[in-house]
Amino acid sequence: MCGIVGVISKQLDCNQKIRYGLKKLEYRGYDSVGYAYILDNKIIINKCKGTVENLYEKYPNLKEFNIGIGHTRWATTGKADNKNAHPHLSFHKKIALVHNGIIDNYNKIKSFLTKNGYKFKSDTDSEVVANLIEYYYLKNNNIMESLKLSSQILIGNYAVAILNIDEPDRIYFYKRKSPLVIGVSNDGLFLASDSLAFDKYCSDFIDIHDDRFGYITKDNAYVFSNKGIVDVKSYKNENKSEDNELGHYPFHMIKEIEEIPSKIEKLLDVYYKDNNYNFTNNLLECIKNSDYIIFVGCGTSYNAERILSRLTDQINKPTLTFIASEWSYYPVYFGKNPLFVFLSQSGETMDVIKCIDIVKEKGFKSLLITNSEASTLAKKADFVLPLYSGREIAVASTKAYVTMITVYLLLIGAYQNDASIIDEIKEAITAIKDIIARKDEIYQIALKIKKKKNVFFLGRGYDYDMALEASLKLKEITYIHSEAIAGGELKHGPIALIEKGVPVFCFFSDKKTYHALLNNVNEVKSRGAKVFNIVNESLKTNDEQFIIKDLPLRVSMLSKIVFAFYLAYFVSYQKGLNVDKPRNLAKSVTVE
Ligand code: M6R
Repeated sequence: MCGIVGVISKQLDCNQKIRYGLKKLEYRGYDSVGYAYILDNKIIINKCKGTVENLYEKYPNLKEFNIGIGHTRWATTGKADNKNAHPHLSFHKKIALVHNGIIDNYNKIKSFLTKNGYKFKSDTDSEVVANLIEYYYLKNNNIMESLKLSSQILIGNYAVAILNIDEPDRIYFYKRKSPLVIGVSNDGLFLASDSLAFDKYCSDFIDIHDDRFGYITKDNAYVFSNKGIVDVKSYKNENKSEDNELGHYPFHMIKEIEEIPSKIEKLLDVYYKDNNYNFTNNLLECIKNSDYIIFVGCGTSYNAERILSRLTDQINKPTLTFIASEWSYYPVYFGKNPLFVFLSQSGETMDVIKCIDIVKEKGFKSLLITNSEASTLAKKADFVLPLYSGREIAVASTKAYVTMITVYLLLIGAYQNDASIIDEIKEAITAIKDIIARKDEIYQIALKIKKKKNVFFLGRGYDYDMALEASLKLKEITYIHSEAIAGGELKHGPIALIEKGVPVFCFFSDKKTYHALLNNVNEVKSRGAKVFNIVNESLKTNDEQFIIKDLPLRVSMLSKIVFAFYLAYFVSYQKGLNVDKPRNLAKSVTVE
């Protein structure tokens, strides 16, 4: 949540570089935006409520400069408006600052600064940080020292980039728990929440660890810990070679849905090389030695973990699933030697980071399934299984959900030394391609529900887990209220919500529950619901239905969920909404 970018360049070209970075970081927050630069011994700030486009419409006459910082905001402290947009200028106009994170004790610091004559223009915690640094700087004339002193006071998490009017040849930074990387190019250096912000310009990046601070100049990066300067390692910026452009697609979400078959194929290439599974023996041993497998994640990753947990039954290990934000406050442990499996597309979700920290402290092993190998979570986990899915830019997660399930299916195959899953996954790819080819049918179904106020998804077992994901997707990007109901639970309360014309989507993948689920369908139909079934060829019904090629149960959700992704997408699209940037959300939830 919130993206920060800083650029210092040998040319007067920072404006375009910051604009590029802001656009790339918009997935982290898009309710307000701004940038600051130093020109003719002045700090100039342009900022506004709204998107990057709105900002450049408001300030069309671009100045050229060679040092600047920028910010895209997802409001936490202080509502989304012009005054709370970043950058924030300190009271004595020495410092401009952009911040990603939350400062828990900002009220206390604000009172202290107010007593010392400081006045505030915004409601944010970030402006307090700018003024705290300035407060020290005016006493000691040393920004590095001021960063150190203020970091001893700040409680919370932060990645911060700072311009100092007295030093127009450097951008200062410090970081604790929020992501921050340095981009290196021949033309200058960058700072950003994500290397995506400078993918076009930098082939290498330097990762900044927690509690480090320092500065970048146009030639070099200087990173310090409390003990002094530290050596830094640079990594290849994989984003540079990635195709993150929309191409002919109107939105990233549909592009990402249609990438699913190729992303699954990629996983087969990586994890099943030359007819052999490609997982480390250490990981397989760790699974073997664990007496419990405990899954933890949020949102779509949580929904995926429920499927993973069912798949784990095949290897006869007891499992549990948890929502990360719940487990972090109420941690419970099962077994003597549990393996914790964390799922996180971004690898930056704060609720999950809190959990892995607890698990590490306890000395238990952890496996992370993620789409970001360079993420904070990846650095903490004992084992990492990357999804190799390419950047997911749409806020609504799609390809990550499917690839999370696929990689785990492959892991189970490797654990059981059973290659039959490979053919099953290949069958699922064919089924997905078939759904993609028939998306117009789903478009027509979407037309029928776009004006509805409530939509329900029904299923049992795997199908219920999938219903949870279908429902999350629909509500998140269409703003239609939706609920997933386990078929058997219907009569225990939710059926009270069924009324004439309400759409109920029902997933049929499992022979075992076919009749029970059919009864549920009849129950909602007799109360006026409009039923659409998503069924396997061999599990047809007499209702309006979307028929999908028969697949073995354990891979069936890889294809059926694609129906639900399209459904949500088309409803959102038909309503004229910004599919990729739904209101109030951000792609990376880096605060609690
Ligand atoms: O990056 P993560 O997988 O940890 O993100 C978890 C959730 O924030 C995320 O899945 C969210 O629910 C998506 N917007 C759902 O589409």
